[in-house]
Amino acid sequence: MTLRKNIAEMAGYVPGFQPENEAEWIKLNTNENPYPPSPTVAEAIRAEVGEDGATLRKYPDTASKNARKIAAELYGVDPSWVIMANGSDELLNNLIRACVGEGEELAYIHPSYSYYATLSEIQGARVRTFGLDDNFRLVNFPACYEGKLFFLTSPNAPFGVRFTNDYIRELAGRCSGLLVVDEAYADFADGSAVELVSQCENLVVTRTFSKSYSLAGMRLGLAIARPEVVAALDKIRDHYHLDRLALVAAEAALLDQDWLKENLVKIRKTREWFGSQLR
Ligand SMILES: Cc1ncc(COP(=O)(O)O)c(C=O)c1O
Repeated sequence: MTLRKNIAEMAGYVPGFQPENEAEWIKLNTNENPYPPSPTVAEAIRAEVGEDGATLRKYPDTASKNARKIAAELYGVDPSWVIMANGSDELLNNLIRACVGEGEELAYIHPSYSYYATLSEIQGARVRTFGLDDNFRLVNFPACYEGKLFFLTSPNAPFGVRFTNDYIRELAGRCSGLLVVDEAYADFADGSAVELVSQCENLVVTRTFSKSYSLAGMRLGLAIARPEVVAALDKIRDHYHLDRLALVAAEAALLDQDWLKENLVKIRKTREWFGSQLR
């Protein structure tokens, strides 16, 4: 077998442990939402499948046009600034594939999302990590960072701290490559870097449906980026990366913002209660 050397040598990602009998656990390791998604999601999936599943004969919309349009309205951008994805993991992967050649450098905060390391290994990219000081600013971050891509997890997991938009704007100015703000948990925080995408040429914001929308099982994500970045990501993604059920689920979830807001209130309360119990 003629595997590439980095693939032969890498260990591979170990996803969070999924116990067989979940009822016996308080399961926090993969940050799934303990509350169900909007009921409109299951309705939309049922309607798409229909009585006999006949719609499933046909390929889905390769461009996710309707979902992009709905997301674009939600975030106040043109649909050409939005790309849907098979989980935000797909976006992180394709951003590396699009921007970082073998042997070239990318960076991220340590500790943060451990999958960045695996994706970098697959690509054969060099990795540099930056720590955070007591004020949650990057330690020794260069005035001009020359790496091809920087993943800024905001709010950061595991620290739970969101970087201010002033600081993100400053970092974008200091990155010569792409600054990817991974906002997997942004719905649980106040504020977002989405409004900066039109101001900073090299900024991309990724979002997931796995956490706030309670849809980890559907594998859905999206990114807000300049049309030229969206076009590049469109070129390299699988052409049918989202199946018909995922597409209608995404549309229904995005349209039910009232459900999302109620869900977020519940999560925040549960978080406070759980923190106090742990203390
Ligand atoms: C910071 C961060 N980014 C991205 C992801 C992946 O999200 P998705 O399920 O959309 O692939 C996770 C999942 O835990 C995460 O913690």
